[in-house]
Amino acid sequence: MTQSHSGISKAVIPAAGLGTRFLPATKATPKEMLPVVDKPAIQYVVEEAVTAGLSDVLMVTGRNKRPLEDHFDRNYELESALGRKGDAERLARVQESSDLATMHYVRQGDPRGLGHAVLCAAPHVGDQPFAVLLGDDLIDPRDPLLSRMIEIQGQYGGSVIALMEVDPAQIHMYGSAAVEPTAEGDVVRVTGLVEKPEPADAPSNYAIIGRYVLDPAVFEILRKTEPGRGGEIQLTDALQHLAEDEKVGGPVHGVVFKGRRYDTGDRGDYLRAIVRLACEREDLGPEFRTWLRSYVTEEMQAP
Ligand code: UTP
Repeated sequence: MTQSHSGISKAVIPAAGLGTRFLPATKATPKEMLPVVDKPAIQYVVEEAVTAGLSDVLMVTGRNKRPLEDHFDRNYELESALGRKGDAERLARVQESSDLATMHYVRQGDPRGLGHAVLCAAPHVGDQPFAVLLGDDLIDPRDPLLSRMIEIQGQYGGSVIALMEVDPAQIHMYGSAAVEPTAEGDVVRVTGLVEKPEPADAPSNYAIIGRYVLDPAVFEILRKTEPGRGGEIQLTDALQHLAEDEKVGGPVHGVVFKGRRYDTGDRGDYLRAIVRLACEREDLGPEFRTWLRSYVTEEMQAP
């Protein structure tokens, strides 16, 4: 099995949320299966884990888990139909997702929060540091983040979270981190965390985004974490414990991400992800960009 250079080999992808912001599309389909150009959002996330050297992937699924499992499994009927037609290109596209990684699944019975979803991974993860990638958070494949986080975890130990500077008016939608600088420009020491604070209570405008490299000590803390904001067991609350007491699971650092990131569970961000990634595609991009330019010109001329 491939391993990242720090020895971390397991990735956990929570994908059991209800996806209420995207109803009715997510009534019977997980939001992670919504296509971004021609691949479901979740495939980008698994590809990102594999690119960072993590080929053992545990997906935490909920109701409607079937499409997720099927997507990463073989589809013999489709494969043999394409094989008979001699359509090697499409056959390769079908096989791509089933050949990517060693996939495992665990069911989160009730969506009791992200912290609870991560706790469902404890038996599979064991006592090694591991990565968590949120299934609805898409990091542009051209802006690697996870490999840098794994590198920082190798350097400092403990846990590493991903942070992004946001407009202070937006911080109430994220977890917010209190930070101190380190010698490295893109790395901060995290001294405290608050989930979805009011702007006046936010320790900074550094928002937590959906990538984590965690010390397994987080499981013991999650077992004791009471439901917090929204009645859910919050991962941020458990990380706050790690941040305030280094003796428990080592320090918490943050890698400040300045690249492109899309929350595909948010309708506006989802549309932006599709337009951006479609423009960059060699096969679709040239024609799509030409259309987009003329569409924008028309829009600008409209009264
Ligand atoms: P969100 O905060 O986006 O919640 O979850 P949600 O329920 O999925 O979506 P909305 O807000 O109703 O539209 C962040 C991540 O945590 C996972 C989600 O699948 C998503 O990747 N999650 C959340 C779980 O796996 N289980 C939970 O109980 C809650």
